[in-house]
Amino acid sequence: MHTSVDIAPDRFRQVMSHFCSGIVVVTASSDGVPVGLACQSFASLSLDPPLITFNVARTSRSWPLVRAAGGFAVNILGAAQRATCQVFAVSGADKFAGLSWQPGGTGAPLLADALAHIECRLEAVYDGGDHEIVVGRVVALQATAEPAEPLLYYRREYRRLGGHG
Ligand SMILES: Cc1cc2nc3c(=O)[nH]c(=O)nc-3n(C[C@H](O)[C@H](O)[C@H](O)COP(=O)(O)O)c2cc1C
Repeated sequence: MHTSVDIAPDRFRQVMSHFCSGIVVVTASSDGVPVGLACQSFASLSLDPPLITFNVARTSRSWPLVRAAGGFAVNILGAAQRATCQVFAVSGADKFAGLSWQPGGTGAPLLADALAHIECRLEAVYDGGDHEIVVGRVVALQATAEPAEPLLYYRREYRRLGGHG
């Protein structure tokens, strides 16, 4: 039998903020219009078949457009892309204004200066409480050959390897 424990959302968020991660921007082409959102919940899921996953809030305005597009790109952000991340973490804005990007094979925008691009076909969507659990099948991928630092997120702050961002 389950025991119901009342966990306040703020407390849950505060404790979970101790889990450090990289950040990605998930992008798609919605009838030719570029859309996207910043995500920390990205992870690799399966090698064979090649699958990745991320979780998206049901309140996201971009997610229904990404879902309808049926394909998307995961852009792994570098340390210099903090401002880009902040743009993609805001709902509704014209997130691509002034940004440099080019369409990948799926049509999804590949952001310039990202450390890696992983293009996917939407494989499955599962219930995850107030989020949805998205599974993508990898159809193309590339990473920068340059040694470059990732953008990190830890305790609600942007960080770099070895210090503050
Ligand atoms: C570092 C960071 C990580 C985030 N991770 C996620 C995430 O994993 N899933 C999610 O739904 N939103 C995440 N967000 C919040 C979305 O980026 C934010 O709600 C955004 O406004 C959504 O835009 P949209 O409404 O256009 O979809 C994150 C934000 C930041 C700053």
